[in-house]
Amino acid sequence: MFEQVLAEVEGQCRAERVPMLGPDKAKLLASCVEKAKPSLIVECGTAIGYSGLWILRVLKNLGSGRLITVEIEKANAERARANFESAGVADLVDSRIGDAAEVLKTIQEPVDFLFLDNNKDGYYACFRAIESQLTNPATIVADNVGRADQMADYLEHVRTNYDSETHWFESRRRPGRRDGMEVSIYRY
Ligand SMILES: C[S@@+](CC[C@H](N)C(=O)[O-])C[C@H]1O[C@@H](n2cnc3c(N)ncnc32)[C@H](O)[C@@H]1O
Repeated sequence: MFEQVLAEVEGQCRAERVPMLGPDKAKLLASCVEKAKPSLIVECGTAIGYSGLWILRVLKNLGSGRLITVEIEKANAERARANFESAGVADLVDSRIGDAAEVLKTIQEPVDFLFLDNNKDGYYACFRAIESQLTNPATIVADNVGRADQMADYLEHVRTNYDSETHWFESRRRPGRRDGMEVSIYRY
């Protein structure tokens, strides 16, 4: 059932042009989660739950860990919740509606994995909003870092202060175009 729901959500994203990570980047995200074995992941930018399903599949297989995912568009969040239910992983996820930079300030428990995929100029604000809860170490994955001009403050901070690596991907939809994901290991 899980695999069928994931395939359907990917199909809906393509048909309706809902932004999603896509399978190549999702595999990197899943491998980071597998490696980190986190207790609590926070995702900014749920959309309809495609990347969330990739995260939740790993957590389910690991047998531990939870996801808090934040989405500003109520209709998206409601579709994501329905998709998590259909896939049988709703018990592992807390789906919240609001501006991620504000919602993150209300999280009062240790966070060992942060995935940034919301408005690109909000990445640094989200990082700052959750920084006091980040564990030592914590994994941070940021999508769309090819749009460096929109998140210059965030990239400068993580590349200067932490082990940080950019992973580049060729666009399947737009050959010749590439985009990146930044994987950073936060420490204090
Ligand atoms: C690129 S999509 C996320 C794709 C999703 N992570 C996936 O791979 O399935 C970006 C999402 O962030 C949401 N978003 C934009 N600004 C936001 C904000 N300030 N707080 C929370 N979500 C936001 C958008 O509504 C959109 O659904």
